[in-house]
Amino acid sequence: MERTFLMVKPDGVQRRLVGEIIQRFEQKGFKLVELKLLTPTRELAEEHYGVHRDKPFFEGVVSFISSGPVVAMVWEGDDVIALSRKLVGATKPSDAAPGTIRGDYANSVGENLIHGSDSVENAEAEIKLWFS
Ligand code: TYD
Repeated sequence: MERTFLMVKPDGVQRRLVGEIIQRFEQKGFKLVELKLLTPTRELAEEHYGVHRDKPFFEGVVSFISSGPVVAMVWEGDDVIALSRKLVGATKPSDAAPGTIRGDYANSVGENLIHGSDSVENAEAEIKLWFS
């Protein structure tokens, strides 16, 4: 069974959207297998977004993710990686369709409520990074 790493970012926790976000994945039929609330260290945030190290937004996204509590989770189900990316919605607010989490609740490319792994390799690496 496939597994993915999903994280409610600090804006989602501050805006009291944790329940709403979890409910969407439960209603889709996925199984929650790990969950913890933590404030990521800078080091953990840098590692998580390591592929973006050379991008202009790297510093901003690392500071943001380590600015307060996040809800880190592992979810399981058939094709959960691709399907959960659909539920999350596009990164850019103007591309995020209504009905997706970002499309319904986010209006900023940086503060976009939730992270979801985008490939089998990244899901495995992120689960290992956050839950070992
Ligand atoms: P990315 O992996 O491209 O998006 P996604 O979260 O949809 O997989 O980017 C990682 C995060 O970096 C993104 O959620 C928000 C931040 N980011 C910016 O702040 N500015 C940008 O222009 C991009 C592309 C991303």
